[in-house]
Amino acid sequence: MDFPQPVSRRRFIGGAAATAGVLTLTPSELALWAQGTPNAPAIAQAQGGQQRGSDAEYDAFAKLGNNENCYGPPESVIQAMTKAFKYANRYGYPDGNITQEIADHHGVKTENVLLGAGSGELLDVVGLTFLDATKKVVGSDPSYGSVYQQATTIKTEAIRVPLLADYRQDIPALIKATKTHYRDVGFVYVCNPNNPTGQIIPKKEMKHLLNELPEDMPVLIDEAYHHFVDNSDYETSVPMVLEGKPVIIARTFSKIAALAGMRLGYVISTPEIIRKMRAHQTGTVNAVVKWGGVAALKDTASQADVKQKVIASRKQAVKELKSLGYESIPSEGNFFMVHIKRPVQPVIAEFRKKGVIVGRPFPPMLEHLRVSVGTNEEMARFASAFREIFPAGGTAGGKSGS
Ligand SMILES: Cc1ncc(COP(=O)(O)O)c(C=O)c1O
Repeated sequence: MDFPQPVSRRRFIGGAAATAGVLTLTPSELALWAQGTPNAPAIAQAQGGQQRGSDAEYDAFAKLGNNENCYGPPESVIQAMTKAFKYANRYGYPDGNITQEIADHHGVKTENVLLGAGSGELLDVVGLTFLDATKKVVGSDPSYGSVYQQATTIKTEAIRVPLLADYRQDIPALIKATKTHYRDVGFVYVCNPNNPTGQIIPKKEMKHLLNELPEDMPVLIDEAYHHFVDNSDYETSVPMVLEGKPVIIARTFSKIAALAGMRLGYVISTPEIIRKMRAHQTGTVNAVVKWGGVAALKDTASQADVKQKVIASRKQAVKELKSLGYESIPSEGNFFMVHIKRPVQPVIAEFRKKGVIVGRPFPPMLEHLRVSVGTNEEMARFASAFREIFPAGGTAGGKSGS
């Protein structure tokens, strides 16, 4: 196959991760697995509230499990953040007018913008604002699970609508579920493109959803992967805010701007919803990342570069997997799902033993593996591990089936 030449296994095993070559998860592996999963706080707590483990051990993994930006922040963003470090000891400091910059970027007012320590914080705040023991969330399943996990924490539940057979979101069923349970629904959640499938909601279908839902029903539209989409059938739903719809558009600097570890996201919504949400906010955004965010918004060239590299790498991996007989779901994100034709859980463990962290299972899609786009070296290690776990014509490491 045409994947870049794999890094030799010996070289990898000679690395620090080899010392962790046991089946139990090491602390840093636990930390890796925790990121982006609904159980992150519980796992961190099990670690005594800290994510320990050596950095060398962490660095040795090919990290294809959390849909991160493998390239790291661009120079412009690093420079802006480095400069802002002089405010590390302050509470009040200039923040680069980040809220105004975001508002200008979207053609809205600052009263339409709410910053959060990652969009994940804001997804939780939406839950705190619109859910209680009597109000549920309606959303697709599988999707990004943190909203549903938050519903459980609030002691309510999610009304989960299965994806269609081709893994698109079932818009008529979402409308029906919301109307049927109208009095019990606090808000509707859609992820566009969806995580874990990478599928978009075509613009016509999104319009249909927003027109058909009861007009006072809040709709949280998670556009975490907006910047990677290369499909004319997709559009952002930010303009719906200006039309006065009760939509909440969530965006993050974690993906395209590579600032996942720095924690910065925001929502765009109506002033009324922003006011309600503000009352439930718990975290604060740090000075350094605010300046990084402003620089990232302006650095459109590096965003285009990341997008182009991610799409090329994803297409290449999907093509090669296809040549080996494994189909992937068409994705518009910095990740894709490949149908591995056997149970995913043991395969994830096999990859881990080979130093490659891949996505967690996404029930009920238990024969699909989610793979985040990594560097060329990481993708080569994935390809090498894949060939070992799925030898041509063989069934090593697991049963073949369905
Ligand atoms: C769909 C989706 N929304 C939100 C988030 C949270 O991102 P963050 O809290 O880093 O902004 C993620 C992270 O993986 C995601 O996949």
